Amino acid sequence: MRLSTAAAVVLLAGSTLLSAGLVASSADDTSADRRGGVAIDSPLRDLAKRVDLKIGTAVDHDAFTNDTTYRERIATEFSSITAENVMKWGLVEPVRGQLDFTAADELVAAARRNNQGIRGHTLVWHNQLPMWLTDGVASGAITPAELRTILRQHIIDEVSHFRGKLYQWDVVNEVIDDNANLRDTIWLQNLGPGYIADAFRWAHQADPHVKLYLNDYNVEAGNPKSDAYFRLAQDLLKQGVPVDGFGAQGHLGVQFGFNTAAQVAANLKRFENLGLETSLTEVDVRMVMPSDTVKLQAQAQGYSVLMQGCLLARRCTSFTVWGYTDKYSWVPGFFTGQGAANLLDENFASKPGYQELQAVLALAGRR
Ligand code: XIL
Repeated sequence: MRLSTAAAVVLLAGSTLLSAGLVASSADDTSADRRGGVAIDSPLRDLAKRVDLKIGTAVDHDAFTNDTTYRERIATEFSSITAENVMKWGLVEPVRGQLDFTAADELVAAARRNNQGIRGHTLVWHNQLPMWLTDGVASGAITPAELRTILRQHIIDEVSHFRGKLYQWDVVNEVIDDNANLRDTIWLQNLGPGYIADAFRWAHQADPHVKLYLNDYNVEAGNPKSDAYFRLAQDLLKQGVPVDGFGAQGHLGVQFGFNTAAQVAANLKRFENLGLETSLTEVDVRMVMPSDTVKLQAQAQGYSVLMQGCLLARRCTSFTVWGYTDKYSWVPGFFTGQGAANLLDENFASKPGYQELQAVLALAGRR
């Protein structure tokens, strides 16, 4: 049989798509393991793309530089990255007045090559500050008025440096404490509560397009702390402060149990109803070591409810995990006796949480 040119082109295109794994072969047409043309064992970024969600990971700059497997998997698996540390103030300005964006620029350049979005993290925080700053404030060498000028300069310098390259910035990080009060930091003590509005205004001046976020932990669902954020967001918006987004970090632990997907969605939605977008920004699910099958299944549930909550909300734009392999994780260093918090194990083998996210994304993309 002779094929028309058009038919031949269609066939060729079809075989290219097939080999790229993008459409089901006829033998697979009724297969339960494919949804809407994307195999459910596809990389997370392919599955997330169909539901218009950026799926990200925090990137450890040292591991990125030294571990090829780690670096390559980031490119195939994720459509967004966050610098785990190298955009933080203490790392970009260890010496006063000497800005060093070398490491951050390397991550940004790689992300752009890989067609990934970049979240900026973070402009105002109480941790990982430069020593010259904390020492100067403690000794009184830096006065409150000077501190305000220094903060303004820091925000303008850093946001300008990355202008046009990032899609979101965590402007203020963890500014409400576990009792739902404004956190008692050098910022609140020296500048008063108005520093939060100022930070957003300065960031907006330096890059009017990047989405500016509030970000914190333990605010995934409704509770006194997320209620305090809701009031803060309302208040900022009422004053015309350019805040665009609410980020829930999502550092969970299997020993604490989880909220339901509906509770997460309801919380994100109330922020969206104020006019904000939302994101899950630092998801990991730690456990008391050693890990076992039941804990790993519980962990998968933790990842799943956050992803489902995000997908059920209307403007949840990105879902970022705080590292993706147990080979490099902040958890064992910060929570004694805990670990195994990531989607892949230390040999880059997928854990139940990874497969759960694939399934949830595939279901969300089902037509
Ligand atoms: C952590 C990093 O993962 C560690 O490598 C670093 O030593 C400390 O900070 N909330 C945040 C992140 O907003 O910036 C923190 O990252 C984890 C908790």
